[in-house]
Amino acid sequence: MPLPPGPGEPAAIQMTEWIVRPTALLRRCHARYGEPFTLKIGWSDAPMVLITEPADIKRVFAAEPDVLVGGASSTVLEPFAGPHSILVLRGPEHLRQRRLMLPPFHGEALARWRETIAQLAHDELDRWAPGAAIHAHRRMQVLTLEVILRVVFGTGDPQLRDAIRRTLDMTTSLPRLVAMSLVRGPVGPWASFNRAVRRLDELIYERIDAHVDDGSVLALLRSARHEDGSPLAREELRDQLVTLLAAGHETTAGALGWAVERLARHPDVLARVRASDDTYLDAVVKEVLRTRPVLSIVGRKTLAEFEVGGWRLPPGVHVTPCIYLTHRRADLWEEPTAFRPERFLGGAPDPYTFIPFGGGTRRCLGAAFATLELREVLRAVAARFDLRPDRPEGERMRRRSITLTPARGGYVIPEALASSAARNADVLPSQPLDRELPDLQSRPAG
Ligand code: HEM
Repeated sequence: MPLPPGPGEPAAIQMTEWIVRPTALLRRCHARYGEPFTLKIGWSDAPMVLITEPADIKRVFAAEPDVLVGGASSTVLEPFAGPHSILVLRGPEHLRQRRLMLPPFHGEALARWRETIAQLAHDELDRWAPGAAIHAHRRMQVLTLEVILRVVFGTGDPQLRDAIRRTLDMTTSLPRLVAMSLVRGPVGPWASFNRAVRRLDELIYERIDAHVDDGSVLALLRSARHEDGSPLAREELRDQLVTLLAAGHETTAGALGWAVERLARHPDVLARVRASDDTYLDAVVKEVLRTRPVLSIVGRKTLAEFEVGGWRLPPGVHVTPCIYLTHRRADLWEEPTAFRPERFLGGAPDPYTFIPFGGGTRRCLGAAFATLELREVLRAVAARFDLRPDRPEGERMRRRSITLTPARGGYVIPEALASSAARNADVLPSQPLDRELPDLQSRPAG
């Protein structure tokens, strides 16, 4: 069965470009082959048909799980996240686990994390020295890890933090991931990754077995029940906690790195954030995710024939809504490359035109949480600092594993606001700082 057109280079060359110049490759193919087009990336197990047409994206997100399957496309993620992970599960079993995991990220539970996030953001900002350039992405990795430790595990345990950092760091290079998925011997990257996962597991199981009722995601999942009334097994809990780390940490850190990089180049937007309410902040968050999506595609695979963009696709190919290209379509977005949060003030965007969190039954479980985190961190940054870019031109998008982050790390120079102390008193949460907060001062800044 013929597939939509695409570059004729060998898969190894397409993969190299996918790693080294991902956005240039996507733009070039879209301009040359139109919609849809096919990429053959040596690493993925089948050709990838990319789509950007909202009507097609809607059909993909609405497809039954016996026609299009989501998740499980990464051979490295499976052993890390575990067999119970909702990233790996399919069909009814995926939906069952997903239902158990949704409550901690919605409604009342979500609102409770706001103050924790704001406190941790202000702790991080206490370490920013006015006038000294910071590597925004790295700082946001530190901050989002603290947030996830607090919210998911209910602790600031430095041992757990270091074990998570060490393990996740091993998954941030795509060439390394490729090497790990191809060669799984007793020595080399795969073996050291496994050792790091085992150490992390020990600490996670200690935390699970401690049975602390601290309102964390772990505590909430521990009290969740399957349909037959049984609690989640230790292994299920472990897999879902690791899933949240794997899916939630680098994505949010990357988005925040971009947000800081963008705001430094749009002082008018930063000033308006300082003076505005949640509506404008939400619009800024959306515009960051639209113009600089940290994930470029949403993965689905055909289990049966599937029609898209006038093509009948056979079973066994990836059909992937392309977030990056959809967000840049000039027929969907006026001046698509302009950073203009106001475009989102008119109401909710079309869910098949604005797709930073994917869609359908596999839509990002942490979307509301990530939005809250972005909003609270940006609110804190705006209240404390003006931002200046270290050079005028914006940073290019560079691949870091599966995420697209600022090529130079989002270097910005924070400048103190004249009335920063006074503002600070206004925006800091009214509750006293949690005594358990770890001492971050010992970690290198910037
Ligand atoms: C800005 C930050 C984030 C972005 C851009 C993002 C984006 C995405 C995308 C595109 C997907 C795939 C959706 C699909 O296949 O339709 C996804 C899935 C997922 N995300 Fe996020 N995510 C972010 C933050 C988070 C956070 C903070 C968490 C949890 C703490 C999280 C947990 C998950 C989970 C568990 C899935 C798998 C859902 C499933 O298969 O049912 N994400 N995310």
